[in-house]
Amino acid sequence: MKGHHARRISTVDVVIIGLGYVGLPLAQEAVRAGLRVTGLDIRQATVDGLNAGRSHVDDLSDADIAAMLAGGFRAVTNVAGIAGTGPDVIVICVPTPLSESDGPDLTAVRAATETAATLVRPGCTVILESTTYPGTTDEIVRPMLEKASGLSAGIGFHLAFSPERIDPGNETYGIRNTPKVVGGITPACTEAAADFYARVCDTVVRAKSAREAEMAKLLENTYRHVNIALVNEMAIFCHELGVDLWDAIRCAATKPFGFQAFYPGPGVGGHCIPIDPNYLSYKVR
Ligand SMILES: NC(=O)c1ccc[n+]([C@@H]2O[C@H](COP(=O)([O-])OP(=O)(O)OC[C@H]3O[C@@H](n4cnc5c(N)ncnc54)[C@H](O)[C@@H]3O)[C@@H](O)[C@H]2O)c1
Repeated sequence: MKGHHARRISTVDVVIIGLGYVGLPLAQEAVRAGLRVTGLDIRQATVDGLNAGRSHVDDLSDADIAAMLAGGFRAVTNVAGIAGTGPDVIVICVPTPLSESDGPDLTAVRAATETAATLVRPGCTVILESTTYPGTTDEIVRPMLEKASGLSAGIGFHLAFSPERIDPGNETYGIRNTPKVVGGITPACTEAAADFYARVCDTVVRAKSAREAEMAKLLENTYRHVNIALVNEMAIFCHELGVDLWDAIRCAATKPFGFQAFYPGPGVGGHCIPIDPNYLSYKVR
């Protein structure tokens, strides 16, 4: 797409929708990369706090927010606050909780997509980062954007999925040094999204399409879920057998291939590991 490549040289305007544990660190890294970043969040208190230099996310300090503001970052509650003719890149980072029926509740994704649709212009790139079932980007997000913008995904604008890999509290791995998986609706969409992430991440991994990128995320989280559950089951019967499981794990972990250590804990933690396998079974059912 000519327009896209022409704009790549100049300043890239980015809008990040959803300023939580996933969106805010991405906004930070994009500001550091010299992009013009606007964050959009429907929570007035979050937006006011950020614009006043206060962080509501553990991984970022108030000083981090101050540095973002100095780098041109602004938070807004709606599209009226976004200047210019529309962003080059829009990234959706809103929550996907579990619905009553055990599938993903896509209410926030749909609402954020509606917001994104009003900002779509020819040549722009829309990326979904929220964890969901394979097919969401193509079957839910794509038709909504196409209908509202009158443009076709892959022709008029680019559309891709890129799973977030935020590990809250991890001091070693952040946005910059965690490889980023990107899968577009078309190969050109993959490249457009990869162009953006190459500015904020050291390594970009191209998936065959958006579906493989969506599945990669569910594979990662289901893998962790299964292994955490396994080691917790083992902890129960090792206790009964008088076996020190921690010592057994220490020994098993010396195998240089085919084994990864998981440790017993209070259960399958976080707000995504216990939930994401349900998205897989929802789609497979
Ligand atoms: N944080 C993690 O550790 C983690 C890990 C794995 C997966 N995920 C996934 O990442 C996604 C985002 O999670 P998070 O941790 O950033 O959530 P979060 O709750 O920290 O932040 C989401 C933000 O989106 C905002 N929001 C909700 N609806 C909106 C809308 N329509 N428009 C604009 N803003 C809106 C909320 O106000 C909130 O500030 C989810 O799919 C989640 O399952 C998160």
